[in-house]
Amino acid sequence: MALAAAPEFLIFGKSGQLARSLAAQARCEDVSLLCAGRDIADLTIPGHARALIERLQPRFVINAAAYTAVDRAEDETLLCNAINADAPGEMAKACASQGSRFIHVSTDYVFNGESDTPYTEDSEPDPINFYGQSKLEGELKALNSYDQTTIVRTSAVFSGLGDDFPCKILNLAASRETLRIVDDQITGPTPAAELARRLFALARSPSAYGVFHCAGQPFVSWAGFAAAFLEQEGSAIGTRVIPVSSEEYPTRARRPKRSRLGGDRLKEATGLHSPQWQQSLGLMLDAWRASR
Ligand SMILES: NC(=O)c1ccc[n+]([C@@H]2O[C@H](COP(=O)([O-])OP(=O)(O)OC[C@H]3O[C@@H](n4cnc5c(N)ncnc54)[C@H](OP(=O)(O)O)[C@@H]3O)[C@@H](O)[C@H]2O)c1
Repeated sequence: MALAAAPEFLIFGKSGQLARSLAAQARCEDVSLLCAGRDIADLTIPGHARALIERLQPRFVINAAAYTAVDRAEDETLLCNAINADAPGEMAKACASQGSRFIHVSTDYVFNGESDTPYTEDSEPDPINFYGQSKLEGELKALNSYDQTTIVRTSAVFSGLGDDFPCKILNLAASRETLRIVDDQITGPTPAAELARRLFALARSPSAYGVFHCAGQPFVSWAGFAAAFLEQEGSAIGTRVIPVSSEEYPTRARRPKRSRLGGDRLKEATGLHSPQWQQSLGLMLDAWRASR
């Protein structure tokens, strides 16, 4: 496939919510960028990612692609590992040989969720599902292949685009008076646009290598998060959230209960605070309404 002149940023991922938010942020910052979907680089095929990096020689590579189906990952382990573990390792090696910066996006699910305090960048990972295990392997392969790798762990990414948690709940709410949502899993909902802004800032921060955390504040349960955006959309919907326990809502993959990413490294490297998720609900609802 013929590609235009080399972009400054090469993004792996195209239709995903973070890839789309990175593309939107690049337009705001007047940055040249190419978003490579699986039509250009299929991450299940060894060598595809490396070949693209070698051909384009971008200054920055951000990996926003992943196998994100947490429950299906328990069964599709080979596929999940190829995308989440092997591909980032290959990208890091290619970036090392080109001298490109490599920023790889990871997850709070590398932790077991049992800590009483938020996890810092130095906390010991201990994933409790296959998706989390594959993402941790991806982190390690990338860091071990290239010491100038930046890993950015995030949680509960939302945008109002596609298939994120708010879209699923808002679409269900259109036909339900009540919704049962887990109230004993705590997370930090992270607006994809705010994450994208911080990824560009980290990329430009000269020695921001190693692990960083970027999660929305304040921490909230999934039920609490849903209640907040349903209330904001209340005039149109009016669906009531019924909080339930994880035991009452069993899933194929176990979820960490207190999945709270803390740590100061993002602020120290970029001057940017953790995003406040309530401030992004309006934009998320606009995107959801526009996509209906
Ligand atoms: N969503 C969350 O709540 C959440 C929470 C914590 C961490 N994260 C992490 O944040 C990052 C971005 O997630 P997201 O929410 O934007 O995910 P998403 O909306 O599910 O998008 C996944 C992306 O991965 C790409 N992809 C999947 N399989 C591929 C393959 N075989 N070859 C090439 N590309 C492939 C897709 O490519 P196409 O464009 O071709 O479809 C898509 O762009 C991921 O690293 C994820 O692990 C997400």
